[in-house]
Amino acid sequence: MTHTPIAGLRAPPTTYAALDGAEPLAVTDLLRAENIVKTFGPVTALNGVSLRLRRGEILGILGDNGAGKSTLMKILTGYQPQSSGKLYIDGAETALRSVDHARALGIECVYQDLALANSLSVYHNIFLNREILYPGFHILNNRAMRREAIRCLEEIGVYIPSVDAEVGALSGGQRQAIAIARAVHARARILLLDEPLAAMGAREAALIIDLILRLKAEGNMSIIMIMHNYAQTLDIADRIMLMQRGQVTYESDARSTSVPELMTIVRREYQHFQTHKESA
Ligand SMILES: Nc1ncnc2c1ncn2[C@@H]1O[C@H](COP(=O)(O)OP(=O)(O)OP(=O)(O)O)[C@@H](O)[C@H]1O
Ligand SMILES: [Mg+2]
Repeated sequence: MTHTPIAGLRAPPTTYAALDGAEPLAVTDLLRAENIVKTFGPVTALNGVSLRLRRGEILGILGDNGAGKSTLMKILTGYQPQSSGKLYIDGAETALRSVDHARALGIECVYQDLALANSLSVYHNIFLNREILYPGFHILNNRAMRREAIRCLEEIGVYIPSVDAEVGALSGGQRQAIAIARAVHARARILLLDEPLAAMGAREAALIIDLILRLKAEGNMSIIMIMHNYAQTLDIADRIMLMQRGQVTYESDARSTSVPELMTIVRREYQHFQTHKESA
């Protein structure tokens, strides 16, 4: 079996140095963001967002359009830097320099627009930017990539009729599954999914939910997923966070809240904001 080593992949540390002394060290916090602010010129997309992702948990992020969810994801994956605020990975303060830097630390993102190459085969997509080459040559080792892609898809239980198929010819659900397979193959420890179920039929959504729950059950992965459907999020996530206008307005264990409660919070926030606006 060929395993391509991922350069710089850091194993989870077994001991932690004190961060701030006051708090008992949260060994389970894989990722922590503190007071993240992001501005684009006059627009404040994130206005002091903090979050924690524990080992092996699924955190669901809900919120209005334009609330800052994708902006937060892009910061957590090194795609763009925060204007201020701190990120801690494995308890160590980390300034993510790039997407590649985040990847080397085991953070992978599946964006909503997927970033798959539609004209390439399934197996080329799984190895996109991480191609296996013949040692000493700049020639693709297609045979090894094909074999490894089949193994990887089998291992995570994704059925694709042929790894030779062009990705553009597959369904949205299958493409999403391949994007996740690619992240899994890269040995992601932290997987960020931006609206993985958007525009998906019930059957395709079920396929992705199943895959996400299986990855969680294996215990090696922590997942942040941005979602729109409240009920679905409460079903899948361990914890949920509600974002509105660049802030976290509510956070809860998924089991301790409900769709009606979340709807009430959203409505109340909205009314409060409207009243505030009118009186200003
Ligand atoms: N590159 C950018 N330049 C300027 N403004 C931006 C940029 N990226 C995001 N914004 C602004 O930041 C705010 C948050 O956008 P973001 O895409 O994070 O929202 P979102 O919560 O993901 O929304 P949606 O649910 O619609 O995907 C919006 O007002 C958006 O216009
Ligand atoms: Mg978004």
